[in-house]
Amino acid sequence: MIEPKAAVDRLRAAFGGPDHHRTLHAKGRFYAGTFTATPEAAELGRALHLNGEPVPVVVRWSNAGGNADVPDKKPDIRGMAVKFRLPDGSSTDLLGQTARRFPTDSPEDFIAMTEASRKPALVPLFMLRHPGMAGAMLDGLRSKAVAPHRSFAEPTYYPIHAYGWRDVGDRLSWVRYSFVPQGVASPARAFDGPDRLFDEMAARLAQGPVRFDVRLQVAGAGDDPHRATSVWKQAREVLGGTIEVTDELPDQDPMIFDPTRVVDGIELSDDPILRYRPLAYGESINRRT
Ligand code: HEM
Repeated sequence: MIEPKAAVDRLRAAFGGPDHHRTLHAKGRFYAGTFTATPEAAELGRALHLNGEPVPVVVRWSNAGGNADVPDKKPDIRGMAVKFRLPDGSSTDLLGQTARRFPTDSPEDFIAMTEASRKPALVPLFMLRHPGMAGAMLDGLRSKAVAPHRSFAEPTYYPIHAYGWRDVGDRLSWVRYSFVPQGVASPARAFDGPDRLFDEMAARLAQGPVRFDVRLQVAGAGDDPHRATSVWKQAREVLGGTIEVTDELPDQDPMIFDPTRVVDGIELSDDPILRYRPLAYGESINRRT
């Protein structure tokens, strides 16, 4: 397994971003809102933020690249990181991005793919050499996960990994999430400046809240929760709740979103990508704080 320090060195070299920014998702802003779970979510999970009472959230929308000076019109994956603040003072994080399939279970392959994506002419060659990754990479292009998006409020975001939810009787369900926009009318004005995604969000929030459904896939028999690449065939869909974003916040850094930060009632899988992420994020955080 690639050392986290080497991984962060390579990712930073690929983007040439300065040390005081995140290694990936360098350009982003923070927003305040709430999350309210449905009764179906409360039945599946005993974690305190699932009890149906609204809890505060902090959202960070971002461009996936590691250079914060790149204008928003450049095609990219977008990120939506959400920190749920529980009534007991603890918190738990979900980090979504616009690609619905993750192409590999190997951190090293992910680093190599990110490096290759910096030279678009080489991407077809990369896919030929990594045929197992090509399907998810092509899906990302076809589904417009990588695109010159015009709004952070329009794409669906996928946190990818499965998490184990324990109910009050300690029964375990494996759950995957998607954040699906509720389709609010876009602002009348078009935005074209270098920060057009953030300007557009400011105009939207001036009109009212921006809402996302939190949809859940609940694994069925034979669905594998321990690999980021697994496709679930037996899952059922449940509406888990709503994220309602109301205001932009001032810079909250050094805020950390960590996909392994869980609370009582939520468990981590053995997914090697999930288990690797806090090591790489820790290295990135050390350099940016
Ligand atoms: C081996 C796989 C991965 C590596 C090495 C990696 C690496 C990183 C690093 C180094 C950061 C910056 C952390 C910081 O300074 O706080 C980051 C941020 C981020 N990553 Fe990943 N990542 C991986 C997989 C994923 C996956 C699977 C997702 C989504 C499902 C994801 C979504 C994000 C998001 C949304 C952020 C920005 C968080 C924020 O706004 O603070 N990453 N990633």
